[in-house]
Amino acid sequence: MQDLLKEAVEVTNSELVIPTHANHYGTIFGGRVLELMDLTGAMAAMRFANEDVVTASIDAVDFKKPIKVGDIIELKAKVIHTARTSMVVKVDLYRVGKFNTQKDFSCRGYLVFVSITSDGEPREVPTLKVTTEEDKKNWAIGEKIKQRAKERKVRDAEES
Ligand SMILES: CC(C)(COP(=O)(O)OP(=O)(O)OC[C@H]1O[C@@H](n2cnc3c(N)ncnc32)[C@H](O)[C@@H]1OP(=O)(O)O)[C@@H](O)C(=O)NCCC(=O)NCCS
Repeated sequence: MQDLLKEAVEVTNSELVIPTHANHYGTIFGGRVLELMDLTGAMAAMRFANEDVVTASIDAVDFKKPIKVGDIIELKAKVIHTARTSMVVKVDLYRVGKFNTQKDFSCRGYLVFVSITSDGEPREVPTLKVTTEEDKKNWAIGEKIKQRAKERKVRDAEES
């Protein structure tokens, strides 16, 4: 285990929603939202691990507010939990005003990334430094997400 304690890394990413990313109702595809969450989350995880990462899993994502063509969206990703080789990253997505400072929360996702060697083998990551009450709350969420992933792994092994 790496004993290096490291501050959380946060990454912000913005995008203008264009027609090719929208359905025939003019709202963004859920798959495009997941892709952007994955990309933004991966950048936070890579910068935390100082290595390449792969997406191991995406926890449930609820799309709460529609995003339309012409909207600007902003994604904020933060590493909230670390284990031996994996990191849980929280990604929040907002619709932000084009001509004002309005910011509406749209959805949140928790993604697990695993740091890998050039051979694709899991590689140890630094340990996240947890200081504030919010950090502790987020860490507990990350623990539950890792636990759920472990239960799925056992279930999938039993079913296959
Ligand atoms: C992710 C991957 C590297 C894990 O490999 P593995 O052989 O399961 O390795 P391990 O069992 O040693 O697990 C390594 C870590 O990944 C975590 N992990 C594995 N599968 C996971 C999952 N589905 N969700 C969350 N964490 C997972 C383990 O809990 C472990 O975490 P820890 O070391 O921090 O405790 C491997 O499954 C893989 O390469 N998957 C494909 C990834 C990919 O291509 N993603 C792109 C989208 S398809």
